[in-house]
Amino acid sequence: MKTEIERRTFLSRIWKWGFGLVAVAGAWTTWDILQPASPSGFGGLIKNGKAAEVPSTSVETISAAQAYVTKAPDDEVVALWWRCPHLGCRVPWCESAGEFECPCHGSRFNRLGEYRAGPSPRGMDRFAIEIVDEAVLIDTGTIENGPPPGPETIDEPVGPPCEGGDHG
Ligand code: FES
Repeated sequence: MKTEIERRTFLSRIWKWGFGLVAVAGAWTTWDILQPASPSGFGGLIKNGKAAEVPSTSVETISAAQAYVTKAPDDEVVALWWRCPHLGCRVPWCESAGEFECPCHGSRFNRLGEYRAGPSPRGMDRFAIEIVDEAVLIDTGTIENGPPPGPETIDEPVGPPCEGGDHG
């Protein structure tokens, strides 16, 4: 009789442990599925090189982020979205002019993406930046409107244009 009770107790415990394990596995799987995927590629965080290597007199193109990175005079890294705020054309950097020149309707921006001329309503939009272990992370999911037209914060000369236009 006692053996029968012990057997039932043993089987009962086995069943409880089994159900417990299944419940824990189900809860973990549900939690894991509901976690947001860490985005990579455009729309997520894109790792670039070291902050110390970001140019301060020109720009570096980061195609995966659709961005140009450069440095402000205070050494702050700035990531500019290459999409023109006017109608969305890609705005190339013109090294000879030392500025961005939109090929669609002629908007121009200085090295920090600040508005210089043309129909764009503002300067070039910017991505949020994180510096982690000296590496630049461009958060392409966080876009801040470019600055409104106004005085430029840098005073850099304008050279010959790339699109054959004049800068008058
Ligand atoms: S799209 Fe760039 S000026 Fe119009």
